[in-house]
Amino acid sequence: MTRLRLVGFSANIQRPSKTRTLVEAIAAEAAVRVPVDVRIFDLVDAGPGLGGAFSRDQLSLPARRIVEAVEEADALVVGTPVYKGAYTGLFKHLFDLVSPEALAGKPVALAATGGGSRHALVVEHSLRPLFGFFTALTVPTAVYASDPDFRDGGLDSVVIRQRVAEAGAQLAALAGARAAEAAPLARVAGGAR
Ligand SMILES: Cc1cc2nc3c(=O)[nH]c(=O)nc-3n(C[C@H](O)[C@H](O)[C@H](O)COP(=O)(O)O)c2cc1C
Repeated sequence: MTRLRLVGFSANIQRPSKTRTLVEAIAAEAAVRVPVDVRIFDLVDAGPGLGGAFSRDQLSLPARRIVEAVEEADALVVGTPVYKGAYTGLFKHLFDLVSPEALAGKPVALAATGGGSRHALVVEHSLRPLFGFFTALTVPTAVYASDPDFRDGGLDSVVIRQRVAEAGAQLAALAGARAAEAAPLARVAGGAR
């Protein structure tokens, strides 16, 4: 199987970041199950050229690279810190600039972090509907973690680790199945016998 492009995007504006740690952990779980090239981006990578762009052509080069990587990925892990009970404004802004057709049928794992457990369902109430708009293939297990689940910059919860493993495994299975489905079509298109 050719290596798939797995892109992680985390909407953290600071590092170290709990959200980025969670996104990296889910991507790593997928990567042990299916051959993938993993690239992780966050809003620090995008820099100020994302928030000031009202349209795609106004994006700075670093921000445009992230939008393009998201669109071209075979599978995605997306995560956001909870700000005021929802995904951050810049998380939504980035996806507002993603082409509406680019994520159709694409496997996506969802993650979020918050200060406590009060907004744990943000993954179901904010993130899943957004990717429903894109008709993306979101994995059933969404992952939410809060401050007590982290220690010394790493995940420190057996329960969250279990959900991370589940989400990564589901993402790998969907991405692998989709690649296997596309392979015969690619051979036909390429004229292989
Ligand atoms: C502006 C702002 C708003 C926040 N709003 C919430 C909130 O509504 N609910 C919550 O649980 N945590 C809230 N938090 C806490 C962050 O979601 C939490 O610290 C998160 O894990 C930070 O992720 P990061 O380490 O990736 O930056 C807020 C933090 C900031 C800075």
